[in-house]
Amino acid sequence: MHNIPPAPVIAGAAHLHSGKVRDLYRLDDGRLLMVASDRISAYDYVLDTPIPDKGEILTRMSLWWFDQLADLVPHHVVSTEVPEPVRGRAVVCEELAMYPVECVARGYLTGSGLLDYQATGEVCGVRLPGGLTEASRLPEPIFTPATKAALGDHDENVSFEAVAGDIGAGPAAELRDLTLAVYARAEQVARERGILLADTKLEFGTRRDASRGEVGTIVLGDEVLTPDSSRYWPADDWEPGRVQSSFDKQVVRNWLTGESGWDRSTGQPPPPLPDEVVERTRSRYVEAYERLTGERF
Ligand SMILES: Nc1ncnc2c1ncn2[C@@H]1O[C@H](COP(=O)(O)OP(=O)(O)OP(=O)(O)O)[C@@H](O)[C@H]1O
Ligand SMILES: [Mg+2]
Repeated sequence: MHNIPPAPVIAGAAHLHSGKVRDLYRLDDGRLLMVASDRISAYDYVLDTPIPDKGEILTRMSLWWFDQLADLVPHHVVSTEVPEPVRGRAVVCEELAMYPVECVARGYLTGSGLLDYQATGEVCGVRLPGGLTEASRLPEPIFTPATKAALGDHDENVSFEAVAGDIGAGPAAELRDLTLAVYARAEQVARERGILLADTKLEFGTRRDASRGEVGTIVLGDEVLTPDSSRYWPADDWEPGRVQSSFDKQVVRNWLTGESGWDRSTGQPPPPLPDEVVERTRSRYVEAYERLTGERF
């Protein structure tokens, strides 16, 4: 399902892992180098056509958010001084002992949350009122953790109790509280700028600063509040009861499911994107960056 191209060779950095969009390396000093490529995924495929500047836009967005959140939780970024070939789209970060939990907060109901709700009336063990529909705003934001799936599989939603059983009740409660605090902050910032943050996924780890038997400082890792880890919707277009347009990917999705003639059900990978779709998609990422941060890209 995933056709991830080989990671570029970077002098002084050993390749560790590649995801759909990012490549992870270890530097000679032991720190990690996290590189965001211009790859874009849609309908569970990494597309063959990159979106110019996407890696840089998302890297800058994540850095901006880390900064906005710094009074809530420390983050893993140590430096943006990175080797030349990936300058602007990579960060050096401290290695954390990652919690095996995708920490998701949802303010609106969609995706796997909606499917679970429709089947059980609950999401991750949180009971919700009846009558909610696609894109409904929830009475209050909820913590809906998931366990990380192997490449190609979808993450599995789990209850808070399952997380507590896994990592301990204390850390689980801390992750929940931090996740909801980050969501509340970001949702407000985005809403003031005409963008709804439907949900977001965070990953935390601990710093190796604990004496034996204690939990080290909890640090926010990975990327934060990028369109790849979060669902952003144009606020003026929000209408519960139907699937919302995606702030960043709608142009690609519309083209793939419409004009392109691609039939998802055949199992064939999607065709390359035409220049015009690439350019309009790039503009959407630039616009998301500029609207959220108030800075020019
Ligand atoms: N500070 C850190 N220390 C150690 N590992 C980290 C740190 N920050 C992020 N990670 C891990 O680095 C990896 C980044 O992988 P990446 O997100 O590119 O791919 P993936 O999660 O395997 O796949 P996907 O494309 O679905 O996201 C994740 O496993 C993440 O948990
Ligand atoms: Mg990931």
